[in-house]
Amino acid sequence: MSNNAAAPLPTETPEWQTLLTLSASARQMSIHQQFENDPQRFDKFHVAQNGALFDFSKHLITDEILAALTGLLSSCGFEEKRAAMVSGEAINLSENRAVLHTVLRGTGTQKEGAQEFVKTSMHSMMWITNKIRTDNTIKDVIHIGIGGSHVGPALAYDALKNVADGPKLHFISNIDGAFVKETLSKCSPDSTAVIIASKTFTTQETMANAHVVKDWISGTQNLYAISDNTDGAQSFGVPADHILPMRDWIGGRYSVWSSIGLPVAIAIGFENFTHFLRGAADADQHFLLSPPENNIPVLMALLGVWYRNFMDYRAQAILPYAQGLAKFPLYLQQVDMESNGKSVSNQGAFIDYKTGPVVFGEAGTDAQHTFMQCLHQGTDVIPADFILFKNANHDLHGHHTMLNANALAQSKALMDGQENQAEPHRHFPGNRPSSTLILEEQNPYNLGLLMAFYEHKIFTQGAIWGINSFDQWGVELGKTNAKTILEALKAENTSIKTDSSTKSLLSHLCGKNTKNL
Ligand code: F6P
Repeated sequence: MSNNAAAPLPTETPEWQTLLTLSASARQMSIHQQFENDPQRFDKFHVAQNGALFDFSKHLITDEILAALTGLLSSCGFEEKRAAMVSGEAINLSENRAVLHTVLRGTGTQKEGAQEFVKTSMHSMMWITNKIRTDNTIKDVIHIGIGGSHVGPALAYDALKNVADGPKLHFISNIDGAFVKETLSKCSPDSTAVIIASKTFTTQETMANAHVVKDWISGTQNLYAISDNTDGAQSFGVPADHILPMRDWIGGRYSVWSSIGLPVAIAIGFENFTHFLRGAADADQHFLLSPPENNIPVLMALLGVWYRNFMDYRAQAILPYAQGLAKFPLYLQQVDMESNGKSVSNQGAFIDYKTGPVVFGEAGTDAQHTFMQCLHQGTDVIPADFILFKNANHDLHGHHTMLNANALAQSKALMDGQENQAEPHRHFPGNRPSSTLILEEQNPYNLGLLMAFYEHKIFTQGAIWGINSFDQWGVELGKTNAKTILEALKAENTSIKTDSSTKSLLSHLCGKNTKNL
C-alpha cells in the first residue's frame, strides 16, 4: 500500500476500540504505582541511541497500551507511508509533491535528479559560505525570511553560538518597521551581506523587508537569495551566481537542512554544518530501521496520539533546559502545528477525531517561573518533554548541574505530586506524565539529531491520523484578506507612507465600509 489515501483511518482500525477501552483504566492508573509494581520499568521504557537517552517511563502507559498503540501504527499503514516518503513518492497529495527533506542529509531516494540536485546545491552553498567567511570586510549577515525560511536557521544559530566563529547573524522576519530599523542600526551597509530566503519569493513580509534592506545596502555584490523562484530573485536584482535554488519537494518548515541553512553555515563553518546534517542523517537511520518499541520518534508519536485521542489531553509542553534552545518550542510550533493542525483526511474528507495538539514551551528554568504552575496544579493535564544536555559546553559547571537538577525535579514533582488535603492550595495531584530526552552535549550533531527526531515524530502522527502533514492551506485565507485590506487602507490614505487612520482600521475590524460608520 504506497498510496496514502488508501490506508484506513485510525478510527476504522480494531486497535482504536481497544485503546478506548484501555483508556478507561488508564484514567485510574498511578504512574508511581507502576514503578512500585515493576522495578524494571525504567529499563523497559527507555531507549538509548546515538548518544541520546529517551526516558518514557513516567507516562500513563503499560505494555498492553504500548502494544495496542504499535498495532494502531501498523494498521494505519505507517511502514508503507514511511517508505513512500523516503522513496520520493508524491505523498503531499493536495499539492502533488514529494517530501524529501531526508535526502538533504544524505538519506537515499529513488526520485530522479534529487541526489544530484543536493550535491550541486551543497557545493554552491559551501562556495558562498567560504567566500563570505574569508571576506574580511563582511562583519554581519542579515537573513530575511519568515516561517520555515527563518525559524530553523534562527534556532540553529542560537543553539550553536558556542561554535559560531563567522560574521554575526541578524534575522528579520516580522513586517514591523521598528524591527527592521533596529536591525539595520546594528549593521553597516559596507560590511554586511544580505540573504533573502523565500521559497516562493512572493511572501508579503519577506518581500517588503527585502526591498527596504536592498535600498539600504546599495549595490548587489553582497546580496544573496535562496529560492525555488530563481526568476523572481533575479528580477529583484540578486546576481544569478548568488542565488541558491530550492525545490518543491523541500517543505519550508523542513528546509533548514537545505540552502536555507546558509546563514548557519556562514556562522559556524561548512564543516560544522555537515555535522549538523550527520546528526539528522543518523536520526533518519534510527527512524527507518528501529522497531517501534525501540524507535524514539515513533514512541514520541505514539505517546502523543495516546494522550490526544484517548486521554483527551490538548496540549504538549516542550521544555529544553538550555538557553540556546529557547526557540525550540517556537520551531516546533511551526513544524508540528502547521503540519498536523488539520481536519481533513488524505481521502479529502472531514475527520471526526482529534489531530495535532497545541504546542508551547520555554527554556527551563524560565518556564518554572512562568507557566509551570499550570502544569502542576491546573485543571488540564499537559504532558511535557524535558530536554537536557548531560555535559556543559562552558566552564560554569555548577550552573549546569543546577539546571539539570531543576529539570529532573520538575519531572519528579509532576509525577509524584504531594498530598495535602488540609491545605488544598499546597496539594499537588501528581500523576502528570513527562518524557526526558538527554543528549550528550550541545553541538551541531546533537542539534541535527534532536530536530530530526521531532520531524519524524510529527510525520508518524500524521501517518496515524491519515492527514497530509506537508501542506498548509490554513494560512492562505488570512494572507488573502491582508492583501485586500492593505489595498483598501492604501486607497483611503492616498500614500503608503501615511499611517492608517483609526477610522479606516475600525471599518475593517467591524467588517463595514468606512462610509457606513
Ligand atoms: O506561513 C506559510 C508559509 O508558506 C510557511 O509554510 C513558509 O515556511 C513561510 O510561509 C514562508 O514562505 P516562503 O519561504 O515562500 O517565503
